[in-house]
Amino acid sequence: MSTTLPSDTPALQRLEAELRGAHAAWQQRGLKLDLTRGKPGPEQVALASALDGALGGDFSGDGIDDTRGYGGLLGIPEARRLFGELLQAPPEQTLVGGNSSLQLMYQCISFAYLHGIGGQPPWREQGAVRFLCPTPGYDRHFRICEALGIEMTPLPLSEEGPDMDAVEEAVSDPAVKGIWCVPHFSNPSGICYSEETVGRMARLGQRAAPDFRVFWDLAYAIHDFAPGAPELPPDLLELCRQTKTEDSVFLFGSTSKISFAGGGVAALATSADNLKWFSRHLAVTTVGPDKVNQLRHVRLFPDLHALREHMRGHAALLRPRFAAVDSVLADTLGHRQKSPYGRWNTPRGGYFVMFNTRAGTAATVVQLAAEAGLALTPAGATWPRGHDPDDSDIRIAPSVPSITEVKQAMALFADCIRLATVQAVLAEHGG
Ligand SMILES: Cc1ncc(COP(=O)(O)O)c(C=O)c1O
Repeated sequence: MSTTLPSDTPALQRLEAELRGAHAAWQQRGLKLDLTRGKPGPEQVALASALDGALGGDFSGDGIDDTRGYGGLLGIPEARRLFGELLQAPPEQTLVGGNSSLQLMYQCISFAYLHGIGGQPPWREQGAVRFLCPTPGYDRHFRICEALGIEMTPLPLSEEGPDMDAVEEAVSDPAVKGIWCVPHFSNPSGICYSEETVGRMARLGQRAAPDFRVFWDLAYAIHDFAPGAPELPPDLLELCRQTKTEDSVFLFGSTSKISFAGGGVAALATSADNLKWFSRHLAVTTVGPDKVNQLRHVRLFPDLHALREHMRGHAALLRPRFAAVDSVLADTLGHRQKSPYGRWNTPRGGYFVMFNTRAGTAATVVQLAAEAGLALTPAGATWPRGHDPDDSDIRIAPSVPSITEVKQAMALFADCIRLATVQAVLAEHGG
């Protein structure tokens, strides 16, 4: 199969007819494939099945006779130690909550919105407030802002992280109250922030509004699956302590992609003052978290080393799936940085491959794929309000399907890319 794109109209027309035939043949097959959400596949969650029975009837923790009771708003001490290691934060500045870090993010923002933070008036009383959104980014981050009426400013994201010149300039506006960051194996571009970017993030609090916060989402902190993956980003809280900006950051993490996506444990680390602020408002909403689940987790994963060992099993399952994505695309579309059909990355960790189509064709590709039985994340989902101005970003999440299904899905995807591209070029040629 040729991976080039003809330049003359008759050859393009022949290729388009051929690709339309191929698409019709895919439609006949009645496939039901899905590359949408980034979540652990069935074999991955099975790796943590020993959580069932991990307690063996012993519900006692460090200084807690019975974790089945109410209370313990900040989490059990051994879980705070474990997440402190994961987030590179002191245990006394780490809160361990329920099963979702996204919920902790929403709570931080909604508490600031309703009650104010850092001694400032509530955001809802400050007129228009906004968040900086390095893009492409995580759709659910953007949905939180959208739900609370917080404006969003997209900013470019490079291999090193967000454009820090643009970030530093933007935060001088006191209406800017936050920035979304996934610093390690970013969702969906798979990039890892450079040391310089992290250092500049730590200093943002010196020039931003007193109620500005960096939302540092370490969802993929230990999720490398290929050799040569970058190390975890430098310790942000410690850098902030050195520059006296500790109040300017919230760090988040969870075991959603370590143990069970819906039955894991999530944590928040921040300054002592922020933690006091957060727990004061949290106490209104709950008597305490599910300490039994926290205890099960620390019995199975007593420390960061145990978590990292466990992640080797995940890596062994993810590596061939990501390799299959790359090899099918390379075989059908050519070189990932030079193909006339688009560009894609080959991440060494995280959950996603980012595909950039020819401008103006991503939504068509998603539609063509759906017609042939392949569900993809909606085009534009990686942009604030779902609007990708270039209509070019498609997020591919290959963790859940089997390797055979990933290969089949990617072959279909590549055919949809080729058809949409050829049709767009023909339209440009006026035919
Ligand atoms: C960047 C990022 N943050 C947070 C989450 C959700 O985490 P949790 O399950 O802890 O709410 C995800 C899930 O895909 C994610 O990709």
